[in-house]
Amino acid sequence: MDVRADSLIDWASTDELKNALQGIRKPVLMIGGGSNLLFMGDFKGTVLHSTVSSIEIIGSTDDHVHVKVGAGVIWDDFVAWCTVNGFWGVENLSAIPGEVGASAVQNIGAYGVEAKDVIDTVQTVCLADGSERDFSNGECNYAYRQSIFKNELKGQYAVAYVIYTLSKVPQPRLGYGALEQEVARLGGPTLANIRQAVIAIRESKLPDPKILGNAGSFFMNPVVSEAEFNSIKSNYPDIPSYPAPGGIKVPAGWLIEKTGWKGRSLGPAAVYEKQALVLVNKGGATGADIKRLADTIIEDVKKEFGITLLTEVNYI
Ligand code: EPU
Repeated sequence: MDVRADSLIDWASTDELKNALQGIRKPVLMIGGGSNLLFMGDFKGTVLHSTVSSIEIIGSTDDHVHVKVGAGVIWDDFVAWCTVNGFWGVENLSAIPGEVGASAVQNIGAYGVEAKDVIDTVQTVCLADGSERDFSNGECNYAYRQSIFKNELKGQYAVAYVIYTLSKVPQPRLGYGALEQEVARLGGPTLANIRQAVIAIRESKLPDPKILGNAGSFFMNPVVSEAEFNSIKSNYPDIPSYPAPGGIKVPAGWLIEKTGWKGRSLGPAAVYEKQALVLVNKGGATGADIKRLADTIIEDVKKEFGITLLTEVNYI
């Protein structure tokens, strides 16, 4: 989106952030790579962005390693570093756009793994008074694309570092869809092969935001009750589904495709032709254009299936 903020502050250490917070022009918005944000217009305040870029091993046992990573590290650089060093846990999350700090807020996930599976502690700075606070994994209230930082404490803390626990012992997780086949084709479940397979699968389905503006999955996959699921299945026997806490998860991309929106445009906003869960900016779209398309899709899915889709993308 072509938008501007009144002011942008990059901070490279917690001390720099604390200094910047004194007399800062409000409102304040802490961002990572911006990969999951949709700006509805210019931001009339200060955007904060971390450039804390260290990756440091802070502890190790025979089986595990603890790594402290700066919020400003590009997420996929961290994944590549783990792959080279033989540390298991994040390889299924290869090639996800964005930065380490935001990944702990959004609880990014793909191919059966979520960031929360490897996060030990999230180290933050309170934007109101500059105090430091560590959140244990349990305190982060992680759930599917959710955390305390997106809900109860939204906008209140800036992530400075994330401490991960990774495995030195191979732990391939290949249960998701086409991953196992692609890894076998590459020669077996090494870290490098899993990373390469995930990158290949993602590239085949998801548009590169540098080429075609998008925020990845625009909606979350809804979880429905067994009764709701059975009623949809009686009309659509081929509906895919996965067990999930609290019910049955159905792919929003499938629901959207069934309403006929896949590949269709509404003005300069469109539904990506290879993955209906991704909305794209064909050029010059405003936040309002994208929201109009998203709202129309939500309405059509509601009419057809009785399910209200929720956005994964955060409107600003
Ligand atoms: N499907 C369709 N039509 C579509 C898209 C998907 O029928 O246009 C069906 C597929 O055939 C498949 C199912 O939906 O049966 C699931 O599709 P896919 O494997 O592409 O995954 P997804 O559920 O659409 C989720 C995440 C992605 C993540 C992939 C892989 C969410 C909201 N999205 O997508 O995450 O990469 O699984 O694990 O959970 C993101 O969050 O930005 C993101 C890209």
